[in-house]
Amino acid sequence: MNAAVWQGAGRRIHLQEVGTRDGLQAEAAFVDTARKIELIDLLSAAGVTKIEVTAFVSPKAIPALRDADQVLRAIRRVPGVVYSALVPNVRGAERAIDAQADELNLVMSASESHNLANLRMARAQSFAALCAVAATVRASPVALNVSLSCAFGCPMQGDVPAQDVLDWCARYVNELGARGVTLCDTTGMAYPTQVVALVRAFRARWPDTELTLHFHNTRGMGLANVLAAIDAGADRFDASLGGLGGCPYAPGASGNVCTEEIVHALALMGYDTGVDLERLLAACAKLPALIGHDVPGQILKAGRRLDLHPHPHDFEQIAARAAARAGT
Ligand code: COA
Ligand code: ZN
Repeated sequence: MNAAVWQGAGRRIHLQEVGTRDGLQAEAAFVDTARKIELIDLLSAAGVTKIEVTAFVSPKAIPALRDADQVLRAIRRVPGVVYSALVPNVRGAERAIDAQADELNLVMSASESHNLANLRMARAQSFAALCAVAATVRASPVALNVSLSCAFGCPMQGDVPAQDVLDWCARYVNELGARGVTLCDTTGMAYPTQVVALVRAFRARWPDTELTLHFHNTRGMGLANVLAAIDAGADRFDASLGGLGGCPYAPGASGNVCTEEIVHALALMGYDTGVDLERLLAACAKLPALIGHDVPGQILKAGRRLDLHPHPHDFEQIAARAAARAGT
């Protein structure tokens, strides 16, 4: 790694919150609509760049997000924040446009097996469906992003060739006119050197396309992958509050990289995420009560690096004894 790159020097890194979509879709408990809206409003106020508010999918497939329409309509829109929604088909796109999404996030998988498991279609059928959605979107002021799941490996098929990933990206940019592409590490299979190679290849081919990296921390490589991607020229990451998340159709999936952990680490290194960590942690503190369990994120438990702890109660005696011993 290039030492100079590790010093952020104020470089802007965009953080996109996906906890209310990727996070809540994986939770057993249904989070009340009003509480979801409150949480999203807190996230908007904390300064994230984009929020993937919800998903306009079949309520039978993902019951946790069956209130997508109400949530997207009721949130407070902070100027400058992009409010995005995941959509699987034209029906979802129409619902999301109707509820005034700023951006639609379309999804398909780089792996045939995962595409079938998650979306019940072959990849070619998914791409045809994406074309239909793109046609719907072109008639509206809404922007288009395409998320490619399993871009760094598939839990059923194994490695996915980087060339396949780039070929799909080419189709999103050229045929769908996507503003952005998200490379998703759906089940935490990405590793730093692989990330560097793919980010560099993408950046070289499409310098003007918005590139997002979406990492899951399944095997503890989340932050390492974020730093590797930054080193390779990426500046946009999905992350989820408290580290919630996980695709219900991917065996062994677990949480996204954790927003407050990434914000905390990047701030220490001199990067500018524009996020107010204090506010973010206040929003995060509400999560355990909403979902009924502890969150995987570490900062809520450990505090920030310089949130200091009191000395032990007998510290003065310890110090006095040490001084006496030093004197003898
Ligand atoms: N919004 C609301 N309802 C929808 C919908 C949408 N975007 N798309 C489909 N439906 C409904 C249909 O009306 C139908 O309802 P019915 O059973 O009451 O008639 C039902 O869902 C099934 O529709 P069908 O077109 O046969 O789709 P399918 O069963 O092949 O399901 C998906 C395909 C993709 C729509 C569905 O599996 C889905 O929404 N999956 C969510 C995937 C996801 O979000 N994964 C995690 C994120 S990567
Ligand atoms: Zn994900």
